Amino acid sequence: MNSDFKSILLSREKIDAAVKQMGERITQDYNGEEIVLVCILRGAFIFCADLARSIDLPVEVDFISASSYGRATESSGNVQINKDLEMDIEGKNVMLVEDIIDSGLTLKTLRDMMLLRNPKSIRIVTLLDKTERRKADIHPDYCCFDIPDEFVVGYGLDYDSRYRNVPDVMVLDEKVYS
Ligand code: IMP
Ligand code: MG
Repeated sequence: MNSDFKSILLSREKIDAAVKQMGERITQDYNGEEIVLVCILRGAFIFCADLARSIDLPVEVDFISASSYGRATESSGNVQINKDLEMDIEGKNVMLVEDIIDSGLTLKTLRDMMLLRNPKSIRIVTLLDKTERRKADIHPDYCCFDIPDEFVVGYGLDYDSRYRNVPDVMVLDEKVYS
């Protein structure tokens, strides 16, 4: 194992099984309706790609990019939109696809912004949730894994733009960021 990592938190096999199951659950819940997956860049790109292929419904995909992290490992709470949707979501079933919810500040800003555009419905799906660190009033409708308060990378998640291509979710060793 790369010495930047302290341990493996979720293996690719475990992630794969959970994402497939999540796709089936969403397929059942929406009962033939069309949904728009809003992939929150950049961290959710791999999760969204796998999830989209596990959903058996008419699916549209669009992308939005927000940032509140720089080099630090904590949200600044000051959320910036770097790239907005290209699609008009009015009257559509919107599913915000997030990699990890930490303070919840990023998602709260994005959800409030999306609500102003009058979607038919809006729900949140996240791969990971660090519930104990929540500051904003945000609860995902769908969550693959609740995880402890550790900084993780891989399967799309980065630290300082690195490690996104690591196939498993790994706990980053503190020495990398302290
Ligand atoms: P929040 O606004 O504090 O909920 O931050 C959410 C965003 O911070 C996520 O979309 C991630 O991009 C990033 N983030 C939070 N925790 C981690 C982590 O453990 N590893 C990598 N990125 C993280
Ligand atoms: Mg993110």
